[in-house]
Formats: sequence, structure tokens, C-alpha cells
Amino acid sequence: MKGIILAGGSGTRLMPLTKITSKQLLPVYDKPMIFYPLETLIQGGVKDILVIIAPQYAGHFLNLLGSGQEWGVKISYEIQDEPKGIAQSFLIADTFIGDDDVALILGDNIYEDDFSSSIRSFEKGAQIFCKKVSDVQRFGVVEFDENGQVLSIEEKPDAPKSDYAHTGLYIYDNSVIEKARHLKPSARGELEITEISDQYRKEGTLKANIVEGCWFDCGTHDSLLEASNHIQKSKQI
Ligand code: TTP
Repeated sequence: MKGIILAGGSGTRLMPLTKITSKQLLPVYDKPMIFYPLETLIQGGVKDILVIIAPQYAGHFLNLLGSGQEWGVKISYEIQDEPKGIAQSFLIADTFIGDDDVALILGDNIYEDDFSSSIRSFEKGAQIFCKKVSDVQRFGVVEFDENGQVLSIEEKPDAPKSDYAHTGLYIYDNSVIEKARHLKPSARGELEITEISDQYRKEGTLKANIVEGCWFDCGTHDSLLEASNHIQKSKQI
């Protein structure tokens, strides 16, 4: 299993903080944000990790993470020239992925869960990770049956079919590269990750897992503060 941390994007909602550096390098309590998704992948047993970054602060990532030696893993880097969508990762990373399967995690998502059993037991198809939230209309909404088989995924629907939001961790088999090659940009000009997952759903191989612990998407000032406060409290216990 190869690992990708997607850490580009514009970070417009976190301006002016993102005028100083990239969103994923901002502090979340006592660590740069990207340490959390990095540790999630490492805990899952992933040893070969590609960090996809925007050109602007590329040097900051290299200074911070280096070769990965500090964590006992190999870290390499690719530039995403423009934020053309999460699913563009698989085109940027096609050589890196090679013939392997891949776990993609967003560089601004923080999880408490240990995903090592999902990662280690993965064989084929796709797995996504869903969290019950109160404001599900703001997210990709996933409907699934008692076996985790996904029935539908809808982006920000008016009438959501479940309370489960799609979070920023995806495990895909090697066919993801070919699936990404056939994507067309959406109305907002991006290659959409939900379209990739939806292709697996149509094949009947998309499985939803429930995120049991806390999950934070640190894309706004409020969620960034909430994540920091939560981590501070959990360290005091
Ligand atoms: P978003 O939070 O959706 O986008 P953003 O980071 O550009 O922020 P904003 O909406 O405030 O402008 O992105 C989720 C994660 O995916 C985040 O870690 C950035 C990353 N990302 C990329 O690296 N490249 C992309 O093309 C996109 C769309 C996101």
C-alpha cells in the first residue's frame, strides 16, 4: 500500500493565516497540521508516502518533513501546479503508485481512529470513511447498508439520504489510476473524488467504514481552533 497526503489547495477560508504558509503547516495545538495525517498513515503501516504540495510553499514542506527518516518512512514530493481537484492526485502520482494500491488522506484532516486493520486487510475495490454529523448537507453524503455497501454518494444534497459525511481518507485499488484518467472536470473545474468513488459504487465494490473517534477537517478558523482545543484537552487526560 502506497500513501498520499494531499497538501496543496488554496486555503482561502484560512486567510490571512495562509498568506504566511500553507494551511497544512499551520499549528494544531503543538504540531504542524500535516503531522496528524502523516502519523495516521504511518500507524496504518504505510511506509512509502508521497506528499503533493502547491508550488508556493514547497520548500517549507521539505524543511519540515525531509526524507522521512525521522519517522522511519520514505517521503517524496510532487507539485500540483494548480488546485484542479482531489482526484488529480492519482494522475500526479501514477508513477509513484505503480502497480500498488493507495491510501489517500487530505492534509487538513485529523483523525483519532487507528485505520491499520482497514489498510492491512485491504484487497480490492475501494473503502471510504464516514462520520455521522449534524450538518451533513455541507458534505458529501454517503448512504450505505448494514454491510457497509455504499448505495449512494451525493455532494451537498438538499435532501440527504443519511447523516454520514464522507471524510478525507480513501483507500483505492490500482484501478483508481485508470478511473482518474477518464474523469472530466466538473462545473467548478475540478476532478472530483466523489466521481471516483461513484465509479467503484457502480461496480459494487465501494465499502463505507464508520469513523468512531473524533474527526476534524481543519479548513476554517473555527474548525482549526476546535481541533487544537480538543487535542489540548485529550493530552491532559
Ligand atoms: P479544500 O479544503 O476543499 O480546499 P482548500 O484547501 O483549497 O481550501 P479553501 O476551500 O479554503 O480555499 O481542500 C481539502 C484538502 O485537499 C486540503 O488539504 C487541500 C487539498 N487539495 C489539494 O491539495 N488540491 C486540490 O486541488 C484540492 C481541491 C484540494
